[in-house]
Amino acid sequence: MRIIRAKDYEEMSGLAADIIAEVIKEKPDCVLGLATGSTPLGVYEKLAAKYRAGELSFSRVATVNLDEYKGMGREDENSYFRFMRDNFFSKVDIRPENTHIPDGAEEEEKACRDYDRVLERVGRIDLQLLGIGHDGHIGFNEPAEAFSKTTHCVRLTEETAEANSRFFSGREEVPSYAYTMGVGSILSAKKVLMVAAGADKARILKKAAEGPVTPAVPASILQFHPDFTLVADAAALAELRG
Ligand code: F6R
Repeated sequence: MRIIRAKDYEEMSGLAADIIAEVIKEKPDCVLGLATGSTPLGVYEKLAAKYRAGELSFSRVATVNLDEYKGMGREDENSYFRFMRDNFFSKVDIRPENTHIPDGAEEEEKACRDYDRVLERVGRIDLQLLGIGHDGHIGFNEPAEAFSKTTHCVRLTEETAEANSRFFSGREEVPSYAYTMGVGSILSAKKVLMVAAGADKARILKKAAEGPVTPAVPASILQFHPDFTLVADAAALAELRG
């Protein structure tokens, strides 16, 4: 596990974008696993700036997103489909047909099965970008009794629903369920890159990076990944030993 210390959110975003850009330059037809949430927004901005500067092209890149709310149609303003289109895909030269997100409008079993087929078809993820939830979730893999393998439907914990309510008009608007890539699929990525910022992530980052590996803290499994990089700002790293 490699920890890269950034002084603030801006620097964290730039350093993470540089790592992703390297992967794309080395392999223009790479597969990127992407995340939503507020932390990666700066990374997406930096990547779009590299594209505008003519430094980077996404024309052959394929993407697979981690998750989507169950029951959410693509055009719903709170769907992760819209989030990705508005915050990233529309700002670079990626082909829409090369971007993949679980279908929130589809019924549970089919949505998950179809998404696992998509993951199989696009091939091994070259780099998976992750954020981390306050309870240690990655994607929407919430604390559980066992690590999940493939795409499945999860019930959001109260803490996660509360945290995500900032994107909605109120807590009651937040869907109760989501479809998420499994921990097994995340772990099979060649590289995993986590971004974290802010003092509110310090406690969980310490647990995830230095605590026991347990499905009660899903992100802790990344300690076992052979190519895991954490890029975080000073506030988020404040409780880590090193
Ligand atoms: C969403 C996702 C989540 C977020 C996590 C942190 O696709 O993967 O695991 O990364 O909820 O969200 P933020 O960045 O908003 O704190």
